[in-house]
Amino acid sequence: MRLISAAVATLALTVGAQVATAAPVELKFSHVVAENTPKGQMATKFRDLVAERLGGKVEVKVYPNSQLFGDNKVLEAMLLGDVQMAAPSLSKFNKYTTALQIFDLPFLFKDMAAVEKFQQGPAGQKLLGSLEKKGLVGLGYLHNGMKQLSASDPLRVPADAAGKKFRIMASDVLSAQFEALDAVPLKKPFSEVFTLLQTRAIDGQENTWSNIYSKKFFEVQPFITESNHGVLDYLVVTSKEFWMGLDDSTRTELKKALDEAIAYGNKVAGDKAEEDKKAIAESGRSEVLSLTDAERQQWVEAMKPVWKQFEGEIGADLIEAAVQSNN
Ligand code: LMR
Repeated sequence: MRLISAAVATLALTVGAQVATAAPVELKFSHVVAENTPKGQMATKFRDLVAERLGGKVEVKVYPNSQLFGDNKVLEAMLLGDVQMAAPSLSKFNKYTTALQIFDLPFLFKDMAAVEKFQQGPAGQKLLGSLEKKGLVGLGYLHNGMKQLSASDPLRVPADAAGKKFRIMASDVLSAQFEALDAVPLKKPFSEVFTLLQTRAIDGQENTWSNIYSKKFFEVQPFITESNHGVLDYLVVTSKEFWMGLDDSTRTELKKALDEAIAYGNKVAGDKAEEDKKAIAESGRSEVLSLTDAERQQWVEAMKPVWKQFEGEIGADLIEAAVQSNN
């Protein structure tokens, strides 16, 4: 009996102490890009909005430039509770789901407006839940933009890429895309790309204007083909355990702040695609190659068989829904 009352007293003391010193919930947001990018700016906007509205309750700490985790480790770390939020590229969920592979199909979306239409439509919204069984919650999409091809030699037609080594994100569709060109794809973390290019260990890579600019790939890649052959967007994710462990009002406020930060990030993405392309073209370090319609058509024909290859895994209906978003 005495033991029980002692235990109750200790419990009361502990609870009392916790109430008195309740520290804010720490929300670590890890990403791999520079701060001055659509994702970097979205993350800092989110941090600031949360500080303004939920200060004392939740504190967001942003870790850019792969400082905390690279994209190949961040989801594992999230499931272990070591990080609470991230926004990996949609190409980096291959280990967790095949559904998001739709976004990697080459020449699927004609522009970012089509990507937005698909993401916000019923099929895109349903895909947000595709990680649920793995313990992850898709909170929203964030844009970066269309991908371009950079290389140490000019790439005007698909034959120019044959035999060359390209860094890709960890996606089987992207692997197939380069194999369709008779090129050699290598899955490598973002943090290693600059050195791989600089040392000529690889010949090229695909990325958005903002990533090519902010990570200085253009300084070590003399040619960039404006191919717009695919999209690089993000999924903002958290773990189910963290998200559902928050009280309802905190969760609602966080989601609201995140939606606003995403809208802001999307605006930055649109602006940066233009600005960074211009800065690269004006730098004199890299030549931006435009394709004629006939050249572009050759790339479409070379890469398009990838659709059939993945139709079984992705689903013909989903592909059709994405195609329709171009109208
Ligand atoms: C890449 O690995 O090239 C991109 O996913 C990096 C990023 O997060 O934009």
